[in-house]
Amino acid sequence: MKPLTVVKFGGSLSSNVKIRDKFLEETAKISRTQNIILVHGGGPEINTLLEKFAIESRFVDGLRFTDAKTLEIVEMALSGKVNRILTTGLIKNGVNAVGISGKDGRSVICKQLKKFGLVGGEPIKIDKKLINTLIKNGFLPVIASIAADVKGNVVNVNADTLAASIAAIFRARRLIFLTDVAGVLDENKTTIKKIKISEIKTLIRNRTIIGGMIPKIKGCADSIKKGVKEVWIADGMNGILDIKGTVIKI
Ligand SMILES: Nc1ncnc2c1ncn2[C@@H]1O[C@H](COP(=O)(O)OP(=O)(O)OP(=O)(O)O)[C@@H](O)[C@H]1O
Ligand SMILES: [Mg+2]
Repeated sequence: MKPLTVVKFGGSLSSNVKIRDKFLEETAKISRTQNIILVHGGGPEINTLLEKFAIESRFVDGLRFTDAKTLEIVEMALSGKVNRILTTGLIKNGVNAVGISGKDGRSVICKQLKKFGLVGGEPIKIDKKLINTLIKNGFLPVIASIAADVKGNVVNVNADTLAASIAAIFRARRLIFLTDVAGVLDENKTTIKKIKISEIKTLIRNRTIIGGMIPKIKGCADSIKKGVKEVWIADGMNGILDIKGTVIKI
């Protein structure tokens, strides 16, 4: 078996054509010698579409409440747009990419976090069958961050949490969060080269790490504890062939 790398491609990067094209080319290159699972979100695309359709949102604890109408747009943005762009880009680079979402094949089941509407928390079950079938037959799965709950309702999930859970269950060799910053930055905006998982709590408590970096760093810790060997929060501008950013260690 080839070694497996799980890459989470930040939604914040997908609208930057230069970064995206470089990433897709590099993924194609790496996929000749490694298995890759690509996971993506798409926050900016979701916001753009919600605005276009003039859908107003209610916020709970600063997070958008996902009602049925909002979820329809979320799915359009993730599966209809970002997933298409990434899958098509890989196909253009000669890769047998297949776009799916976490709910396809009932692969990812999450408990619904009712407070936020149709939103799923950490996966409670991941069925590896569909993704394994794809990988074993030479396909590269491109997975949008949508799952099902136990009753089969569609839920929106955090793409970082999803990528980390998939990396853990598939015992990936590497997990890379490719994002729109140079890595985890300290209070002087300098990239922290290495973070031990024992240091993470303090970095969150003293608010060095906030917002979108929190699910990423938590995903790093979880996946390392579950056996993923090499975990990065990496600079999207630099790509994944010669990764630069923050490495998270046990
Ligand atoms: N200590 C930190 N170092 C670097 N970035 C941080 C830090 N704390 C918070 N952030 C924020 O985290 C952001 C990255 O997370 P964000 O969720 O915005 O991007 P993403 O996960 O790559 O994209 P998406 O959520 O759309 O998939 C940075 O742009 C920055 O604003
Ligand atoms: Mg994010």
